[in-house]
Amino acid sequence: MKPTNEALAERRARVAKRWELADEVVLLRAGEPAGWSGTDQHFAFLPHPDVAYLTAVGSPGTTLAFDAAAGEWELFGPRFTPERLVWEQPPTPVGRPLDELGDWLAERGDRTVIELGAGAEMPETLPAAAEKAESDTPASNGQPAEASDDSTDEQADASPEATVLRLGAAIALERMTKDEAELDDIRCAAAASATGFDWVYANAAVGMTEREIQVGMEAQFFAAGAPRVAYDSIVASGPHGAYLHYVYAGDDPLRPATRTVEAGDLLLIDAGAQFGGYASDVTRTMVVGADPTDEQEYIWKLVLSAQQQTIDMCRPGIVWRDVHLASARILGAGLVEMGVLRGDPAELVAQGAVALFFPHGLGHLLGLSVHDITSVPYSRTPSEDPVLSRLGPERVLAAGTVTTVEPGLYFIDALLCDPARREKFADSVVWDRVDELRGFGGIRIEDDVLVTDADPEVLTAAIAKPIRIG
Ligand code: GLY
Ligand code: MN
Repeated sequence: MKPTNEALAERRARVAKRWELADEVVLLRAGEPAGWSGTDQHFAFLPHPDVAYLTAVGSPGTTLAFDAAAGEWELFGPRFTPERLVWEQPPTPVGRPLDELGDWLAERGDRTVIELGAGAEMPETLPAAAEKAESDTPASNGQPAEASDDSTDEQADASPEATVLRLGAAIALERMTKDEAELDDIRCAAAASATGFDWVYANAAVGMTEREIQVGMEAQFFAAGAPRVAYDSIVASGPHGAYLHYVYAGDDPLRPATRTVEAGDLLLIDAGAQFGGYASDVTRTMVVGADPTDEQEYIWKLVLSAQQQTIDMCRPGIVWRDVHLASARILGAGLVEMGVLRGDPAELVAQGAVALFFPHGLGHLLGLSVHDITSVPYSRTPSEDPVLSRLGPERVLAAGTVTTVEPGLYFIDALLCDPARREKFADSVVWDRVDELRGFGGIRIEDDVLVTDADPEVLTAAIAKPIRIG
């Protein structure tokens, strides 16, 4: 659902309030299509998500301007020349013509212009003063750095880098919780995804290629009204499930290979439709054309149990890292029971043994990007732990947060055949048992979860979780 003008005005007002600017001018640019080197072609364009959030449009070149002294926003959109209109249909006209932006800026004299959105240089680390402001904030909850309440704070960093970071973080804070229009788009994306997964359950079978299954599924997404997929679909059969991001043509863009599904294979599908710019992100893993083996069934049920227990933890006030660690302990305990690990599950998590089999975070924010709000470095202290450092923002869940919950267990040769890891984890991993399971692939189960003041709402609950298809 496209946000109403009132809803957009509210988003902008909340952002401007957080910015606390005096007389600066801010430009947020949607960006330009990325070119394919050596050709006159361009990749499909999507606007910078901050611009999409504040304008609900985003043809290339779209620019949202803010005059802090006047407290006024002005939108500029591209208009095509007659020559260009011979080849391309016109972008939906929004705001003032983009070629008036220069005059608009000139009218504002030599006031400081701050560039955000596409092309803005976002510092990679949190400047020291911004970090201080964050830790000083009484309700500091691991969200992006907020401006210190004390504007006379001598330590406030007014450098251009810190300002860009502070203003970007303010938008990120607003995007952290979704309003009704955003939730409506995510629900539409989830509904389109459901049609694709239903097609898989009814049609995927032994003898089909991964590619055939992908194309059949995505056709349903598009038939249901999704303009595109939210990310490259992962359709991984058998051992391919052990590559977390196994995608078609990942091997060779010119002559991609595809595998034919065999009876008894695990089929891991991680895919989602996009709607209104908003993503859905769903993973299901099934055994195709045969009853699951004991090991497939045990691990599938273990992953599902970890998912159910941690979805239930997705409530306002909980620190995401704690939800992740809970999922790792559940999976670790299951691996001990299965004879793959030995020791205390919490210690196995802490020493990194569980991460050999669960080498990713439990989930990520979802919204205008499948991994939403990743451009602002707002984790206060980067963790040295390889999994915790990938968890994304240190964050506390709030009503309105949409997060994926996607535990998984994998048997990944790159990790499990590494002599250094075998030595390091000689006591905690039962390597003979691991060797029996090499080639197993992986099992991941993922849903999109809305945190509410009541129980968590699973936005992708309509997508069934069969353990066997075909
Ligand atoms: N959907 C892929 C991922 O979450 O990384
Ligand atoms: Mn995901």
